[in-house]
Amino acid sequence: MRMRKKRHGAERLQNCAEFIAPDREITKADASAPFVNKKGEIHLEIGCGKGAFAVKNAASRPEINFYAMEKVENVIINALEKAMARKDEVKNNLRFICGHAEELEEMFADHSISTIYLNFSDPWPKKGHHRRRLTAPDRLDTYKKLLVPGGKIIQKTDNVELFEYSVEEYRNAGLTVEFATTDLHNSSRAAENITTEYEENFMREGKPICCVIVSTAK
Ligand SMILES: C[S@@+](CC[C@H](N)C(=O)[O-])C[C@H]1O[C@@H](n2cnc3c(N)ncnc32)[C@H](O)[C@@H]1O
Repeated sequence: MRMRKKRHGAERLQNCAEFIAPDREITKADASAPFVNKKGEIHLEIGCGKGAFAVKNAASRPEINFYAMEKVENVIINALEKAMARKDEVKNNLRFICGHAEELEEMFADHSISTIYLNFSDPWPKKGHHRRRLTAPDRLDTYKKLLVPGGKIIQKTDNVELFEYSVEEYRNAGLTVEFATTDLHNSSRAAENITTEYEENFMREGKPICCVIVSTAK
């Protein structure tokens, strides 16, 4: 597929270079390398889109070090520019990775990540495409390797079928379900919820949001 390049894409990326994660050899050797607080937990969002969640999360939790990953360069430019617009608040604890979830094991050492966020991941509704889901068994094997003992995956989706599939796959993978709801905004976690771009659209449509939190063994 031919990707339509954003106007002045290379220049816009260059202007935000300070928010791009270092080379994967560096993050694999030490995930805290680009961050000021070397002792902070590492959190990773996969498929961050235009970055609203990543920027708000990093700004509200300066003690945590955040990576946000997105595979589409045209999209991650928007996220980088959002971070630049709040540079003083997030420069110490947020970096973006332009890459695929399939490459995560090349980027991070085993047991280096405390929390993984999956926000409104593509649902891949056709049965033959389920293995492309970010909660397919192969992906969960990778997350289990990368997460610290007691590490968490926090997933939000509007898609009930993806939610149910994911809960089942988490259980099959031996992960413990700590929280699950099909109506996050009317749940005990509503107050602490940080919204994403897709979530704001679904809220305008009045669509309920599913959320599941799982953890690895301690
Ligand atoms: C439906 S959008 C949701 C964006 C954002 N998380 C939100 O909630 O507003 C899913 C995003 O995940 C990205 N994505 C899908 N598969 C990915 C993968 N394997 N690795 C990295 N990013 C991926 C897509 O390019 C897209 O930007």
